Amino acid sequence: MFENVKQTSLLLCFFAVALVYLAHIPRSTTVNLDFVPINHSRTDINRALEFCDALNAPLDTVKDFSDRKRSDRYEHGTNATLVRNAVIWTGRDNGTEILRGSILLDNGIVWRLGSAYEHLIRDDDDVTIIDANGGWVTPGLVDIHSHAGIMSSPFTSGTNNAASPNGPIVPWLRSVDGFDTHDESFRLAVAGGVTTIQVTPANNNAMGGEAFMAKLRSTLDKTPTSMLIEPPCALNGTKPCKDFRWRHLKLACGEDLGSHGHRMDMIWALRAALHKARQLKTAQDTFCSEVEEGVWGGENFPDDLQWQVLVDALRGGVKTTVHCHEVVDLDAIVRLSNEFGFPIHSFQGASEAYLIPSTLNNTWQSETVIVLSATRHRSKRETYRGSEYAPRILANSGIPVAFKSDHPYSNSRYLLQEAQMAHYYGLPGNLALLAVTSIPANAVGLTHRLGTLFEGADADVVLWDSHPLRLGATPLNVWIDGIAQFDEKVADAEPQGSDRGVRPEPPNWDKETREALRWDGLPPLFPSKISTKVSFGRVKEVWTRSRRGEIEVLFPPSYPVKERLANVVVESGKIKCIGTALACLGSREASADIDLHGGSISPSFMSYGSALGLEEIASEPSTGNGVLYDAFVHDIPTILGDAGGVVRAMDALVFSTRNALVAYRSGVTLATSSLRKNVFAGRTPVIAGVSASFRTGFPHAMEQGAIVQTATALHISVGRASLLSSTSSVAVSEQMAGIRRLLMGWEDEKTETGLWFKRASEASSSSPDKHNLRGANEDYN
Ligand SMILES: *[C@@H]1O[C@H](CO)[C@@H](O)[C@H](O)[C@H]1NC(C)=O
Ligand SMILES: *[C@@H]1O[C@H](CO)[C@@H](O)[C@H](O)[C@H]1NC(C)=O
Ligand SMILES: *[C@@H]1O[C@H](CO)[C@@H](O)[C@H](O)[C@H]1NC(C)=O
Ligand SMILES: *[C@@H]1O[C@H](CO)[C@@H](O)[C@H](O)[C@H]1NC(C)=O
Ligand SMILES: *[C@@H]1O[C@H](CO)[C@@H](O)[C@H](O)[C@H]1NC(C)=O
Repeated sequence: MFENVKQTSLLLCFFAVALVYLAHIPRSTTVNLDFVPINHSRTDINRALEFCDALNAPLDTVKDFSDRKRSDRYEHGTNATLVRNAVIWTGRDNGTEILRGSILLDNGIVWRLGSAYEHLIRDDDDVTIIDANGGWVTPGLVDIHSHAGIMSSPFTSGTNNAASPNGPIVPWLRSVDGFDTHDESFRLAVAGGVTTIQVTPANNNAMGGEAFMAKLRSTLDKTPTSMLIEPPCALNGTKPCKDFRWRHLKLACGEDLGSHGHRMDMIWALRAALHKARQLKTAQDTFCSEVEEGVWGGENFPDDLQWQVLVDALRGGVKTTVHCHEVVDLDAIVRLSNEFGFPIHSFQGASEAYLIPSTLNNTWQSETVIVLSATRHRSKRETYRGSEYAPRILANSGIPVAFKSDHPYSNSRYLLQEAQMAHYYGLPGNLALLAVTSIPANAVGLTHRLGTLFEGADADVVLWDSHPLRLGATPLNVWIDGIAQFDEKVADAEPQGSDRGVRPEPPNWDKETREALRWDGLPPLFPSKISTKVSFGRVKEVWTRSRRGEIEVLFPPSYPVKERLANVVVESGKIKCIGTALACLGSREASADIDLHGGSISPSFMSYGSALGLEEIASEPSTGNGVLYDAFVHDIPTILGDAGGVVRAMDALVFSTRNALVAYRSGVTLATSSLRKNVFAGRTPVIAGVSASFRTGFPHAMEQGAIVQTATALHISVGRASLLSSTSSVAVSEQMAGIRRLLMGWEDEKTETGLWFKRASEASSSSPDKHNLRGANEDYN
């Protein structure tokens, strides 16, 4: 009996499928519908077909977009804004198009772009008119890797939502579910011209979850959802989805995943997850071919909330971003990409990407954008080979480059500085600006509205106080969806006669770029010695430090040279001559040893309080001093014979670290280094010990003059508990009480603690050394 029922139902079901299938074929067939009883599997097949149609729908968000007259993000009551008399970098034509004129924002989009549009405005129109005064205008910046909102500011245990402890495979999590709309950093990021961010889960999971694209203005709705750009249907569970929108997925590999195993474990975890997704995809494809062939058995569409985003990725509907630094990681991900037919749209971090450009070109069916930090390297071992020349090298290999903040690890507000620094180190200016606008917008599938200025683009616009590639360029105002984010009064966009509006001309780094490649990112950095006498040509300015320690300008204007540029002779560390070639070099035709091309000479810099020379890689204990005892938390080992446990940086000082040599190359010839730790590297003891001063360019401690002062200052570190520290913390009042007690002479002067606190309480500046800083005046760069 049971057997019979089953056979009948299968038969009926097949019949229903066949009917619907035939109905789709455009030829006349007479079917006696009365013959088939009304049965809900008839509606089921329509539903099944909808699912299958959605699977095969084109991945196209751009349809009907170019002629839109109003943005979906337009907020009712927003006035139109005309920014006139501007120099507009549109981002079009490979970042070379510059228009002079106006930009009219209305209905949340760029309404008109280019020439003057005053004639379009009637007197009774509500249009805010801004005179840019010749200032630069760019599209709003796109920060493709930010944890703003999920590691939100103020940073407390309740606002730390970026790193799920339940990994390493959690593709089903969504960053928007932890997105704090009250994050104070949104406004700061906007103050740096950043209008859109990709909110990515942290790097501590191999598949950390779905990322979302958000605009950083407050909305009338005040919700996370209302800040999102083109949220995919999956967000509200619309199934099947007829209205395609990109989804975004965050993957990671390398050292940040340490808590889940090592590299082999992580790549296996990714493979296993992709395998699972591939099985689900195959089941869906089988379902649809059965539906099409009319052999569908009435089952539900195979679906799984946990894995669907990965299936969508295998179907090409997800913009995937992978945080990976080293060659070993990048290579493994490229292999996975090809094994599973899984496109990778961007690699984040990617410290060693510049060493393997052709491998990066081989990801599966995708143009992969390399997302870099311009100069922040060596905080982890896996970033040790990072290079300032990487953006230029990658761009030369035809690989698109973008920059990111990784906020809060670096402040999103300074995203543009990444582009400015990369430009300084040789990335062409057009590409440097594209790297924070249309290239990241492309990597997330949003170029139809973001990252480039054209009529119809989202009205996300920044007016700058100087050329955007000048260090320190700051927005005068920022518009998001046509809404001004700051006070609309604009003044002094372009001070008369200043060169703030001109793109800076970077130095030539050809040699350094070649060396970076030749040495796989670790070129020798030792300074080369020059003879005691050296001459500089074409010097624009000479600054010096007076006997009283003040900075003085020697040239111009106080030096009697008529020409704009001078020759300078330095002998044994002292300036001997500033003047014409005849005066300084002996003849009109003589040329100086070093041509400064209009550069300046100044006293060298000194860094104070950093860990230069005390640790090579902040997160690797073996490259540093190790963990200090905190007398406020633990007992100090008795062998120190000193309850406060004051220690000296001098005892752990190491010469010729890469960080010190890089500092030297950047003009920091002296460092006073302390054992205080960077906030991301753990808690600093209250008593951080006594700092030492040394010369950063010297090869070892025995070289004459390498150590300037063995004991420079007593460092104490008072503060509230940090969420990032692993050790328990001490109340601020207890820290202060302890320090007060020590300053009042509680410890015996025969101990280090007693000695240094006594000197501190007496404000005694004398050190037990005979060394002093006198030599510092004589270091020139
Ligand atoms: C409708 O079709 C299903 C599946 O083929 C079957 O199980 C069910 O008995 C049918 N319902 C009626 C009312 O015939
Ligand atoms: C874009 O600009 C870069 C750098 O200026 C140049 O090398 C590249 O060839 C340009 N690409 C196109 C398609 O014009
Ligand atoms: C729009 O512009 C009008 C006219 O300039 C002005 O009175 C009004 O306050 C503006 N509205 C907003 C929301 O800025
Ligand atoms: C769900 O999201 C889609 C895509 O964003 C949208 O078109 C649809 O209206 C939303 N549905 C509901 C019920 O909110
Ligand atoms: C990478 O691909 C781009 C675009 O197809 C091409 O221009 C470039 O030459 C390739 N670079 C390498 C190193 O293979």
